[in-house]
Amino acid sequence: MAMAMAAALFLLLLLLPALAAAQNQTFSANDGPWRPTETNRTLVSKSGSFGAGFLPSPSSPGKFQFAVWVNANPDRTVIWYAHKNNYAAVEADGSSTLAIDAAGKLSWTAGSSVVWSPSPAMNASASTTSLNDSGSLVHGAWSSFGEPTNTLMPLQAIPGAGTNHSITLQSNNSLFQLLNSYTLQHGTFMYANISSSVTPLLNFTPDGTLLLSGGSSLIASDKDSPRRLRRLTLDYDGNLRLYSLQPNTRQWRVVWQLVQELCTIRGSCPGQASICVPQGADAITCVCPPGYHSLGLGAGCAPKMNYSGRGNDDKFVRMDFVAFSGGAVTAVLDPGNYMTKLSPQNLADCESKCRANAGCVAFGYKFGGDRTCLHYTSLVDGYWSPATEMSTYLRVVASNNDTNNFTGMTTMIDTVCPVRLALPVPPKQGRSTIRNIAIITALFAVELLAGVLSFWAFLRKYSQYREMARTLGLEYLPAGGPRRFSYAELKAATKDFSDVVGRGAYGTVYRGELPDRRAVAVKQLQGVGGGEAEFWAEVTIIARMHHLNLVRMWGFCADKEQRMLVYEYVPNGSLDKYLFAHGHGGDGDGDGGRKQPVLDLHTRYRIAPGVARAIAYLHEECLEWVLHCDIKPENILLEDDFCPKVSDFGLSKLTSKKEKVTMSRIRGTRGYMAPEWVIHREPITAKADVYSFGMVLLEIVSGRRNYGFRQDSVGSEDWYFPKWAFEKVYVERRIDDIIDPRIVQAEAYDDDAASVATVERMVKTAMWCLQDRADMRPSMGKVAKMLEGTVEITEPVKPTIFCVQDD
Ligand SMILES: *[C@@H]1O[C@H](CO)[C@@H](O)[C@H](O)[C@H]1NC(C)=O
Ligand SMILES: *[C@@H]1O[C@H](CO)[C@@H](O)[C@H](O)[C@H]1NC(C)=O
Ligand SMILES: *[C@@H]1O[C@H](CO)[C@@H](O)[C@H](O)[C@H]1NC(C)=O
Ligand SMILES: *[C@@H]1O[C@H](CO)[C@@H](O)[C@H](O)[C@H]1NC(C)=O
Ligand SMILES: *[C@@H]1O[C@H](CO)[C@@H](O)[C@H](O)[C@H]1NC(C)=O
Ligand SMILES: *[C@@H]1O[C@H](CO)[C@@H](O)[C@H](O)[C@H]1NC(C)=O
Ligand SMILES: *[C@@H]1O[C@H](CO)[C@@H](O)[C@H](O)[C@H]1NC(C)=O
Ligand SMILES: *[C@@H]1O[C@H](CO)[C@@H](O)[C@H](O)[C@H]1NC(C)=O
Ligand SMILES: *[C@@H]1O[C@H](CO)[C@@H](O)[C@H](O)[C@H]1NC(C)=O
Ligand SMILES: *[C@@H]1O[C@H](CO)[C@@H](O)[C@H](O)[C@H]1NC(C)=O
Repeated sequence: MAMAMAAALFLLLLLLPALAAAQNQTFSANDGPWRPTETNRTLVSKSGSFGAGFLPSPSSPGKFQFAVWVNANPDRTVIWYAHKNNYAAVEADGSSTLAIDAAGKLSWTAGSSVVWSPSPAMNASASTTSLNDSGSLVHGAWSSFGEPTNTLMPLQAIPGAGTNHSITLQSNNSLFQLLNSYTLQHGTFMYANISSSVTPLLNFTPDGTLLLSGGSSLIASDKDSPRRLRRLTLDYDGNLRLYSLQPNTRQWRVVWQLVQELCTIRGSCPGQASICVPQGADAITCVCPPGYHSLGLGAGCAPKMNYSGRGNDDKFVRMDFVAFSGGAVTAVLDPGNYMTKLSPQNLADCESKCRANAGCVAFGYKFGGDRTCLHYTSLVDGYWSPATEMSTYLRVVASNNDTNNFTGMTTMIDTVCPVRLALPVPPKQGRSTIRNIAIITALFAVELLAGVLSFWAFLRKYSQYREMARTLGLEYLPAGGPRRFSYAELKAATKDFSDVVGRGAYGTVYRGELPDRRAVAVKQLQGVGGGEAEFWAEVTIIARMHHLNLVRMWGFCADKEQRMLVYEYVPNGSLDKYLFAHGHGGDGDGDGGRKQPVLDLHTRYRIAPGVARAIAYLHEECLEWVLHCDIKPENILLEDDFCPKVSDFGLSKLTSKKEKVTMSRIRGTRGYMAPEWVIHREPITAKADVYSFGMVLLEIVSGRRNYGFRQDSVGSEDWYFPKWAFEKVYVERRIDDIIDPRIVQAEAYDDDAASVATVERMVKTAMWCLQDRADMRPSMGKVAKMLEGTVEITEPVKPTIFCVQDD
């Protein structure tokens, strides 16, 4: 035993000098030729972080490449390799040699031919070659930093930065390029830009800030972490990513990436008709559309049967959220001319024009106002993303009966606000002394008069959002994707989380301002489970919910343990501040009871269907069923013009799966939870949201908290707001008793028939929402219609279940 150990020690002692000798900091003319087969012979930087030497070629057995790699990482990540002008790595077999000749010229030769040598234009003449601590191979005036491959290192000066001849990076498979430090391309198809304005990348700093020309910058998610080894690489999947080396695991972690939806990268699914579908946040898969079969990996798909093209033996299969050619709608993005953009009258027009053209293999139709119609003659770069907001109608033989997996868009995306009112509510010009009411009424009148105009205003506003998204940096994602913020960015934006604007079930909300001076609300989440990727995926779904009555999410932060959401800032605050003047049962929001104007009846009536439609959108029109689970006035925010916006939607999805199964009462709020949830602890359904909304509706009308009200006015133990309201409407027929006394007392109030009808409609709708049995309650879509006055409201059953709901 001792003998064996002694022998091992002796061997080690023998080996040590050999190893030390093999790892030199310089390679000089005296060292003799370096052969690729001497795999232990490496050049290391002074600090030992980087290594250089020969590596076996990944593709051609027996051949070698000369490369610089990161030593601190066990996989020896390559950051540079000797290459030709076309960026392909040069390779040679084991008999070739690297040497420095008497004149100081470094060259890698095979027989009499030179495989590779530093560019003579760079005065590459020296007696030694070394690797410096930034990872640059230096030989005289020449350095590998001047000829990047697919990776940039911190502070690596980009050759010709700021000019039109700046950096070109190429992925190691030669498919993707970063051209002019700015545009990502696959062949001649561009698929992403570093920024929206032409601001090329200059370099990046060791702390993870990507500096762009013009003074703007992009920030890594771990910017605050102590110095880490970082690299910016154009990966072989076509994405540009910033990595940082984790000190503990010595593995790379992505801390910034240019493209968030991998499927929007051109060439992700090569070949005809192949459709890229995301698999979680960082993987993709390629599938064939119905009626097509696969031709093998990377070869695309072909039709199972051909149609004649005369338009008599084919049909169109609708594939929701699918687009081809990256959804490009301009010639710049479609150099192949695979697409023609038409302006049809409607969907049927778009379809018949395609059918009339034998070469039209599919057409795309964009919902939501602009009626874009794309005719495809070739199906390349197909991908699925809700951000396309379009469906592709694929032409297949009429007999095809394949199942179609691309479904999910039920109706066109509904974003119209304010809602159209069916009740004739003439704006009444009183001698009002209450200025706010006059303003609100005037606004309301303008809206009624100019229904069409307001739609245009909405459209303009919407395109403004797009513009805003661009200036905000959201353009790194296709429309609808959230932007990732670092903790440092949000800390700076919120002035170190100093301005609290609210506290809710999911965490504290802070007001902040982004560097472009836009106001945001930052919600610091508590009790959110799951990993970072899971969080990212859920947040992406939330960010894709577009509805004018939903608060827009701009981005998120997932740094270490921190989980934050960044929302648009809605200036007028939450509805509860307007409804409950005396702060009954307030949940302790940060606003110390500032006096708010009394909302008049018309404004209140306008808020109700807006909220209903937003929740109906969540329940019925979103890709996945999203239950709100916490509808209450605190979660209804008001814009400048009192257009309502529902907040906190989708957050129940972020809570851990275990909580969802048991569905304890953690997420609801006292007074708003449906009886089946409180008493029977049944799994929550969409009908629980309907119940909560009914309660909110009664509160909107009465201006009183459903549970605070009881103590003030009636002492009875089993007093139940819905029951009481039911009796007022259907038994006593005294609707005035329900209305907020502040409205009735206001000078502008006029108890004409229209106002009474408005209140009646709201209360009766509320009665249906508050039915004891969940199956008796209407769907949220029906509720919206009831409020709008497009369906008749029959007489409901009296709500009776009163349950003690304590915290
Ligand atoms: C390192 O230096 C020793 C001694 O000068 C030499 O024998 C060896 O070949 C050198 N190795 C490299 C990689 O240059
Ligand atoms: C490289 O080093 C390892 C041990 O570190 C040794 O087993 C191997 O034989 C060496 N290879 C060459 C080609 O010298
Ligand atoms: C190379 O050397 C020549 C003469 O010394 C000098 O004029 C030229 O600027 C040098 N080129 C580079 C790229 O350093
Ligand atoms: C390494 O070389 C590059 C290119 O010559 C230079 O920009 C960089 O400053 C050098 N780094 C160090 C640590 O010497
Ligand atoms: C880059 O090219 C554009 C147009 O091709 C030109 O307007 C601009 O001046 C050029 N910039 C530089 C720094 O050469
Ligand atoms: C490119 O890089 C990937 C991942 O590092 C590797 O799997 C692949 O073999 C490389 N391809 C070439 C051609 O070097
Ligand atoms: C990238 O920027 C160029 C120039 O501003 C623009 O023409 C092009 O459409 C942009 N490409 C993408 C994919 O956004
Ligand atoms: C649809 O999805 C199912 C299940 O994932 C799969 O078996 C089937 O092949 C898919 N159909 C098509 C046409 O891709
Ligand atoms: C459909 O037509 C193409 C081109 O005309 C042909 O190559 C292909 O074999 C045909 N496919 C079938 C299933 O008949
Ligand atoms: C689909 O059509 C094929 C023949 O075209 C037939 O054999 C098959 O049963 C059909 N499948 C269904 C589900 O109708």
